[in-house]
Amino acid sequence: MAVTSQRLAHQVALVTGASSGIGAAVARALAAAGAAVAVNYSGHPEGADAVVRDIEAAGGRAFSMRADVSREDEVQALFAETVQRYGTVHILVANAGIQQDAKFVDMTLAQWQKVLDVNLTGQFLCAREAAREFLRRGPQPDISKATGKIICMSSVHEVIPWAGHVNYAASKGGVMLLMKSMAQELAAHRIRVNGIGPGAIATPINEEARDTPEEVESLLRLIPYGRVGQPEDIGQVAAWLASDEADYITGTTLFADGGMLLYPGFESGG
Ligand code: BGC
Repeated sequence: MAVTSQRLAHQVALVTGASSGIGAAVARALAAAGAAVAVNYSGHPEGADAVVRDIEAAGGRAFSMRADVSREDEVQALFAETVQRYGTVHILVANAGIQQDAKFVDMTLAQWQKVLDVNLTGQFLCAREAAREFLRRGPQPDISKATGKIICMSSVHEVIPWAGHVNYAASKGGVMLLMKSMAQELAAHRIRVNGIGPGAIATPINEEARDTPEEVESLLRLIPYGRVGQPEDIGQVAAWLASDEADYITGTTLFADGGMLLYPGFESGG
């Protein structure tokens, strides 16, 4: 077994939106690196329970718990349960996110509000509880150099404007400055705060954009590296970013997008 495979040993991670897609892969990757994992979900328990079973079958520790990240009381209950079971939290991956797409002129206030509530307010509420727990517990240098690590799941759309998705793009732009401002404020406490900016990863959130071969082809035109990402691509990034190998990284978004941010349209244009 590689030395780095247990680089999160003795640590506790909480991953929101971990019943499917990127969150599930992140939960599995953190557990494989040795962390005990709180697997949060908001809808049906089946996906989260499957993640927990996989982790336990591989010899790891995990439990699942429902909480709507946009509800303060539910977020607080999620952290309280995790601390009660595992003693503390060292790593938060604020991953839960949704899309509710509509043309700008047709977008309802409810669509706008729901996406901002989950994607942005949800990250605020989870990160605040995590930081409070890190400060309460204090440094544990034998376990990790940082007192705590917060990873905000962002998107290439914290940078790339996205017609038909203004609520989503606005939420991710907000996540970027939430992340950087928290990083600035918490650095003195040795709390690292970073983002991950996935591109197009094959998950339920973008299933509709990959329905037909034509759609896949048009998606691939946006990805210089020539493949749609897999959830595991992001899981690996999260496990590394949470580890001491990344101890000097704070306030940064790490993009894992197959080059989407290279503006491939300019390869021959401009
Ligand atoms: C969105 C996906 C989209 C990808 C690239 C992600 O943040 O959730 O639906 O495929 O960005 O545009």
